[in-house]
Amino acid sequence: MASIPHLIKKKRDGGALSDEEIRTFIHAVSNKSIEESQTGAMLMAIWMKGMDQQEVVTFTREMMSSGEVMSWPAEWAGLIVDKHSTGGVGDKVSLVLAPALAACGCKVPMISGRGLAHTGGTLDKLESIPGFNVHQSSAQILEILRSVGCCIVGQSETLVPADRVLYAQRDTTSTVDSLPLIAGSIISKKGAESLSALVLDVKFGRAALYEDLSAARELAQLLMKVGNALGVHTAALLSRMDAPLGRCVGNSVEVIESLETLKGNGPDDLMELVTTLGGLLLKMTGLVSDLSEGRRQISDAVIGGAALAKFQAMLQAQGVANETARSLCSAHSDYHSVLRKSEHQMQLKAPADGVVLDVAALTLAEVLHKLGAGRSRAGGPVNHSVGAELLVSMGQRVRKGESWLQLHYEAPPPSLDQISRLQSALTLGSHDALRSHDTPTLVEELLLPH
Ligand code: URA
Repeated sequence: MASIPHLIKKKRDGGALSDEEIRTFIHAVSNKSIEESQTGAMLMAIWMKGMDQQEVVTFTREMMSSGEVMSWPAEWAGLIVDKHSTGGVGDKVSLVLAPALAACGCKVPMISGRGLAHTGGTLDKLESIPGFNVHQSSAQILEILRSVGCCIVGQSETLVPADRVLYAQRDTTSTVDSLPLIAGSIISKKGAESLSALVLDVKFGRAALYEDLSAARELAQLLMKVGNALGVHTAALLSRMDAPLGRCVGNSVEVIESLETLKGNGPDDLMELVTTLGGLLLKMTGLVSDLSEGRRQISDAVIGGAALAKFQAMLQAQGVANETARSLCSAHSDYHSVLRKSEHQMQLKAPADGVVLDVAALTLAEVLHKLGAGRSRAGGPVNHSVGAELLVSMGQRVRKGESWLQLHYEAPPPSLDQISRLQSALTLGSHDALRSHDTPTLVEELLLPH
């Protein structure tokens, strides 16, 4: 068996590692028989020299096999689905999509993440609901899927332990942004869920991992190839991430917007993404024969209240008191009787008359992160009540002095610099500018498996 220094040297010099060599490396990572410096050196060699497709598939399969691989009852064959997003601002799709898919007959063991850099995390959002428990064992997940049809949980200790080690070391060795490492990390966890179908929401734009559409497409194509090679029917869409998705950015404010969406009052962009991702998954499972029928079924599940009923049942199954879940999901909920409201609110005013041409998601997210909506250190707390709500929409005409953003914050108040950064997120133009300004499409491309 090749020694670890030999494997590092081979990759450093641009060679392709064999299946056996990749297995040796991942085993050493999992059973902790490798030095941290060696793992770091290998990660940097992979970052610099890349991996061919065969290497990425083997790397991902070995990562997946480093821990528990879930198994499901035979009668669910073909129905186990999940989605992954590369991270956005105001992206609350999972909170609506998981229960909508369950209402359409799918089983959704959704394993989600926490906020990363300026992007929000589904688990952080859900934890703003008192009692919601993201830690569920495999036996509990099975039981929730049996009784409800969907759950949203964190990665357990036993699922892809090699990723835990590599992910932490990528962070400290500046090797996060490597296509093979990203693909291995994302798809190994989806493979360990033993999914029938997976849909990827790969973002591009000013607030996305990749600003450029072609770079996002390259990542999507690699993720699809690796997912399909591991036996998970995988599709992707490329969606724009320049302005926030929906109107709210934060944690509890996004839970409220998700609940409003599940009550039929959702913003158009969020509904478009939910119905497209869900419609694709319904088509891939064979529950519908074409995408438009899939979109219609997902939309009906949301508008008609079936998805809301699943969401309420999921909250209860994941530890939320029945009365709390009922209150949040009732038609005229007083959300703040359950979800803590921030101590302070402030409204930002439009500096001039004009038409809203842009709201920069990245700027909003970065300031909110600093105000406590995100973590200042790994494992640190988030303040669930900090967030912002857009009071205007794209293309809307506003008057000087009209409120355009409601900010929810806690002491200390935002600095003058932070307020001026928030103000700079708003771009106003003339009506003529709006006419010459094409409304960008949200979903730019669908990439379907052959
Ligand atoms: N999400 C993951 O789980 N891993 C990555 O590398 C990037 C995003």
